[in-house]
Amino acid sequence: MPISGDPHAYRLPTIDLERPHTSRISNRLLGGDLHWAIDRHFADRATAILPELPDLLRLNRRFLALAIKFCADRGIEQFLDLGCGTPIRPMTHELVDNVLPTGRCTYVDIDPVAIAHTQLAVEEHGAPNRHDVLHADLRSSSRLWQTITHDDRLINPHQPVAIIFSDVLHFLPPGTNERTLATYTDLMPPGSYLIATHLSTDGVPAEVVNRLLDLRALYGSIGQPVTIRSTSEFTELLSDLQLVAPGVASAARWCVSPGPALASNALDKTWLAAIAHKPCR
Ligand SMILES: C[S@@+](CC[C@H](N)C(=O)[O-])C[C@H]1O[C@@H](n2cnc3c(N)ncnc32)[C@H](O)[C@@H]1O
Repeated sequence: MPISGDPHAYRLPTIDLERPHTSRISNRLLGGDLHWAIDRHFADRATAILPELPDLLRLNRRFLALAIKFCADRGIEQFLDLGCGTPIRPMTHELVDNVLPTGRCTYVDIDPVAIAHTQLAVEEHGAPNRHDVLHADLRSSSRLWQTITHDDRLINPHQPVAIIFSDVLHFLPPGTNERTLATYTDLMPPGSYLIATHLSTDGVPAEVVNRLLDLRALYGSIGQPVTIRSTSEFTELLSDLQLVAPGVASAARWCVSPGPALASNALDKTWLAAIAHKPCR
């Protein structure tokens, strides 16, 4: 809920031992080992509804690697991972290091457990002068931007940046995405990129749509509702930016080869991905 006096700043949650959390559920589904029994139980229920969910999350990570390389190849040296989740190797800063050993990466998440694990992982595998971690609600966009750009500490606001929304936008309450994305689009310097993925049902067979709706109800039951957007609604979120070809397209299309394909083509269109550019004036 917004903090009184600042409608665009949100209170941070404390650790909730009773409920599974998306950050650890995804870690479980991606084969990580940073999850609790309640998360594993939830992940089992989710895969009973959609057995291909781990494949989709792996595809999402493949797109992330591709998008980071795309941006690094175009001179981007700083990356801001919003809703970074519980660490899964390779982590975002490792994907950056693979293509740009001097790159900077800042992680942000609302979940204190995800942030504690990310901090430990960065201390173990990262470089303290180039990688950092921040516990924050990404919807507090102006305040967050102020913090990370203060004294160029984490992000230099005069240099282009790649802002990453990987598997997170559909977890933001409806109505907050538009303002949040518009603020980041406004704040990021010209030449910057926005990397985003989103769950969708456009062109998806009815039988799969029904399973996605069941999955949405399951996440809703733990207080982490999911919003499914059409291609045009997702495109609308990026409307102030120039889409990189092939535009808003399935992650499967972005990641045509090489790498494992999805087990079922019926799921291809459920996972949309985009890279969008803020042109230099
Ligand atoms: C499904 S995980 C995705 C993790 C990672 N980005 C990936 O692509 O594998 C979604 C993450 O978004 C985080 N998240 C959700 N709402 C958020 C918010 N308002 N601010 C910051 N993080 C948020 C959750 O805590 C969770 O860690």
